[in-house]
Amino acid sequence: MATTIRVCAPDEIADGGCRIVTVGEIEIGVLRQGGEFYAYQNLCPHQGGPACEGVRMAGIKENIDRNGNYLGQLLDEDDMHIVCPWHGYEYHLKTGINVADDRLRLRRFEIVRQEGDIYVTLP
Ligand code: FES
Repeated sequence: MATTIRVCAPDEIADGGCRIVTVGEIEIGVLRQGGEFYAYQNLCPHQGGPACEGVRMAGIKENIDRNGNYLGQLLDEDDMHIVCPWHGYEYHLKTGINVADDRLRLRRFEIVRQEGDIYVTLP
C-alpha cells in the first residue's frame, strides 16, 4: 500500500534548492527547479553518495545551425543536471537517468500536491 508523506509548502524550497526528508530508512531529496518539483532517493547508484545534495548545472548541447554548421556548444537550461558530490556523476534532473550511462538511475518518487503543499508517494 502506497504511503504519502507531506514534505512542505512549495515556497519552503527555493528555486534551485532541495529539501531532504527521511521516511523510515530512506532519504528522499525533493528538488525544485523552474517551478517544478522532483523527488529522488538521496542515494547515488554509483557508490551510495548523497546525489540530491550535489550542485545543479545546465547540460551542454551542440549548437548547429540549420545549414549543418557547427557553432560550438551551449548551456542547456532545459536540461539541468544533478551532480553527485562524491565523484561527479551527473543525472538528468527531469528523469534521474545518468547522463553517460542510462543503466544508472536515481530512484524516483511521485510528487503529489494536496491543498497546496508538496507530498511524496512511496509505493
Ligand atoms: S557515489 Fe555518486 S558519483 Fe560516486
